[in-house]
Amino acid sequence: MNRYPAERSCPLRPPPEYARWREEAPVTPVVLPGGRPAWLVTRYDDVRRLLRHPALSSDSTHPGYPAFGSAVEVPPLSRSLIGLDGAAHERLRRVLGAEFSVPAVARMQPELDRIVDRAVDGLLAGPVPADLVERFALPVASRTICHVIGLGYESHEVFEHNTHVLTDGTRSAGQKAAASAAITALVADLVGDRRRRARDDLASRLVTTGGLTDEEVVDNLVLLVAAGHDTSANMLALSAWTLLDDPAAGADFLAAGPQGQQNAVEELLRFHSIIQLGLARVATADIEVGDRIVRAGEGVVLGLPAANADPRRFTEPDTLDLARADARRHLAFGFGPHQCLGHYLARTTLRTALAGLLGRLPGLRLADEARAPQIKDSMDFHGLHRLPVHWETPVEG
Ligand code: HEM
Repeated sequence: MNRYPAERSCPLRPPPEYARWREEAPVTPVVLPGGRPAWLVTRYDDVRRLLRHPALSSDSTHPGYPAFGSAVEVPPLSRSLIGLDGAAHERLRRVLGAEFSVPAVARMQPELDRIVDRAVDGLLAGPVPADLVERFALPVASRTICHVIGLGYESHEVFEHNTHVLTDGTRSAGQKAAASAAITALVADLVGDRRRRARDDLASRLVTTGGLTDEEVVDNLVLLVAAGHDTSANMLALSAWTLLDDPAAGADFLAAGPQGQQNAVEELLRFHSIIQLGLARVATADIEVGDRIVRAGEGVVLGLPAANADPRRFTEPDTLDLARADARRHLAFGFGPHQCLGHYLARTTLRTALAGLLGRLPGLRLADEARAPQIKDSMDFHGLHRLPVHWETPVEG
């Protein structure tokens, strides 16, 4: 019996079983926590193709959906963009997509610069050693999503704590439902406020011009709050760890300039593939995968970490190569209709934050205890619980 997820043997690489399964067959029967069976897809070409397959549904309320305790099964997340198929999904995606387009994210750049600068100031003003997760990665990611949506940053502890519960594989359904209700209450207050008094933010635009019901606005804002900070914070912490653990990599990153840094971010996204459980779908018709057939009603898990480490697609996939020419072909943001709505924002935030952090703090070093990274192995998203650092003389500016 293939238990899924398998355990990592190296904290920063996917479990070795995935490479074996990828060589053996296009789909692997696995048993999810809770005992439900599913088919795991591990090859890059198959994962990419299936993410656009019309007979694979994202509906987490479908009886065959391969639930692995992820937040997506909890309403209102199941009723939002990420849990819808076809025309219902397209309609919401059109409205929300405009808010996260390349030009929209470019307009956010000055605010992103300010957020990063402020986070570095905060780091410098506090005690050393410092936990880079709590003092840099989370503030940058949370302030960014608050700015985009129009939510006050003073609520960050509420949504950070409750998102943590939602994405923690060891929590009960009841705990997750309570966490989801807490974020919903926060967002419902915001929506009520913007109904009375619109401002220049996403929440106001959704209630005034989006053509959505209040319930749809709330459901999708809950998704944005939950999906929009923890993911970026985890990627930031893992990336900072990677660039600090190998000072040559950190120096290469800084010297690469904006374009080279953006490419390095793509490689970091590929290498870490933080959606460590992959993406869950249920087949609504029989589907061929190589020489196998997945039957209608069966659950499918698209293994993003395995696909992004597929040697058929990426040369020496287990080597981090910040200058990798085809790094951008990774599937860390998924692919197809549900491809991450916030991918430009996440890419830009990561580059801005890493360049700002290393640029202003060239003397930043891992504290000794950070040499053995404290990874989030029981969470839906790969990341670090803590990242203790210290630094030598900062560069002012
Ligand atoms: C969807 C990854 C950051 C909002 C997704 C999906 C992936 C992903 C793999 C596809 C889900 C599926 O197909 O079922 C990531 C990673 C991030 C990140 C790796 C950071 C490094 C963000 C940010 C936001 C965001 C910053 C918001 C501003 C969303 C939304 C969806 C989504 C709304 C659902 C899209 C849909 O179903 O159409 N993300 N994400 N994500 N992400 Fe992200």
